Amino acid sequence: MTYIPLIMTNQRNSQLSKFYKRTIDERREAISHWVGSDVDVNALLAQNLTSLQADSMVENVIGTYALPMGIATNFQINGRDYLIPMVVEEPSVIAAASNAAKMFRAGGGFHTSSDEPVMIGQIQVLDVENPTQAAQNILDAKSKLLAKADEVGGSILKRGGGARDIEVRVFESTEVGAMVVVHLLMDTRDAMGANAINTAVEHIAPDIAQLTGGRTHLRILSNLTDHRKAKAWGIVPASELSKDGGNGHDVVKAIVEASVFAEVDPYRATTHNKGVMNGIDAVVIATGNDWRAVEAGAHAFAARRGSYTSLSRFRANDSGDLVAEIEMPLAVGTVGGATRVHPLAQLSLKILGVTSARELAEVILSVGLAQNFAAVKALAGEGIQRGHMRLHAKQLALAAGASVEMVPSIVETLIRENMIRLERAQALVKQLKGEG
Ligand code: MEV
Repeated sequence: MTYIPLIMTNQRNSQLSKFYKRTIDERREAISHWVGSDVDVNALLAQNLTSLQADSMVENVIGTYALPMGIATNFQINGRDYLIPMVVEEPSVIAAASNAAKMFRAGGGFHTSSDEPVMIGQIQVLDVENPTQAAQNILDAKSKLLAKADEVGGSILKRGGGARDIEVRVFESTEVGAMVVVHLLMDTRDAMGANAINTAVEHIAPDIAQLTGGRTHLRILSNLTDHRKAKAWGIVPASELSKDGGNGHDVVKAIVEASVFAEVDPYRATTHNKGVMNGIDAVVIATGNDWRAVEAGAHAFAARRGSYTSLSRFRANDSGDLVAEIEMPLAVGTVGGATRVHPLAQLSLKILGVTSARELAEVILSVGLAQNFAAVKALAGEGIQRGHMRLHAKQLALAAGASVEMVPSIVETLIRENMIRLERAQALVKQLKGEG
């Protein structure tokens, strides 16, 4: 079969029609068209991460561990189309994100904003006799300290980043007495910036010890990167949500009720936010970024008011359409770390076509919002098990040795018989092969 390019115009369109029905080779071909001729998609996918590369990343390597990588379609963010590479082991996630993006698209797509990429580095100071005076001394020496931090700024300085501010906080503890905590704020531009900020706080720690007369202890970044937040919002028209010829306002109401549940109850908020992170982590991993850092920041931010709550919010606007919004810290980079070493992280960045870490964070957050919306919509409607079961049945059919052509009829039978089990799938495969 000759492949018909999915991109017909100069304006890139992420609505790749029936992408899920294409073969893997066809999908790869579509992505090759998307990224352009300077990127060899097949070669990068075939190369993946070699054991040698893995050996240069971590210790005691014995091999690499593969996960599925797929593409979410339909995303439009700030008027621009994006295809989203996602690495995730959970069925439904990529399909749900694509489907949700289509609904947001009908309401004008996602809109985003973000802070400058400012990281926080912490220095713990103990054995301080006069914490108030110590704090004042640090603030008085601010410009000297910022200049000192910039001495080790390296490439980040060349890219326009660097030390931006110093903050001081004082704690009292019965165990260790007065504790002065210094924050160095540093713009790390397109790097996630962990190395840069850690180097900088270690570099200025002796000065802090001198200024406070105390003993500096821990010197490390904070993953609560609340100077580096992103926001995403969008509208899903009620008409997109309508069932059985209705106006969709009942579905909007059901989603708002689900949102309020997550806003007030930490038990629900945790699961609601897990749905957000299904989308976020998949892109964070695909782009070679540190998903533990993003997770830690997200949950700490969700608990910032003293009680854990939802990261997103859904409400109806005056027209009865659904307004979705989300805000959270998101420290990711487009340079350095695994983004540079991993061939598939490189490919992911090419597919996204982002030009800065801020743009990447904004895209990732839009995916998180789409994912969250999809889950909440399903839960507020028929529940999530029906869709999951269909995918589970497909996986079982393939595991039972079904050919691609056999899968649809096996899935239908497993669902009709309400018998989504490997043995039944194996029996059906045998039957279809004429062996049963
Ligand atoms: C499953 O991975 C994620 C959900 O539990 C999220 C949610 O409950 O909102 C469906």
